[in-house]
Amino acid sequence: MSQTKILFVCLGNICRSPAAEGYFNYLIKQENIKDKFIVDSAGTSAYHEGSPADGRMMSAAGERGYKLESISRGFNSKSDFSSFDLIITMDDDNHADVISVSPSDEAEKKIHQMVDFCTKHDVSEVPDPYYRGVDGFELTLDIVEDACEGLLEKLLNGELNA
Ligand code: 4NP
Repeated sequence: MSQTKILFVCLGNICRSPAAEGYFNYLIKQENIKDKFIVDSAGTSAYHEGSPADGRMMSAAGERGYKLESISRGFNSKSDFSSFDLIITMDDDNHADVISVSPSDEAEKKIHQMVDFCTKHDVSEVPDPYYRGVDGFELTLDIVEDACEGLLEKLLNGELNA
């Protein structure tokens, strides 16, 4: 069975991309389609390499019923472009950084902006909650959840080349 391999990317890989990985995993578990996907996340910086998700993000996600289990790692421009079908970035900086290390035009086609999958929020980026209060984490999760739902729908409808 062929699996779709998805990598979510933010800056530190402790807030936004772990939330995206955790919520996408939660959705596919609920739908009983976990076997169809491989889901991972990474940061364009490796500052937090080896750390679990930020405690504030873990508790906000926990309140909503899902766990964040990722351990931070840096984006690997060699292996990640070959290992994943879709590389989904959280903001314009992550997007530009990943594009700048893309090895080919073919690889570059794998890169998408997370907010392009939103159906309820009209925003240009997933906001970085790291230096914000509780409300910042809630808004980030609202946008991440909207985008994950839109992404899954597109994948299940065969609307994405992945
Ligand atoms: P993330 O958030 O990119 O969503 O994981 C951040 C985490 C850490 C830092 C910035 C953003 N930092 O500056 O350490």
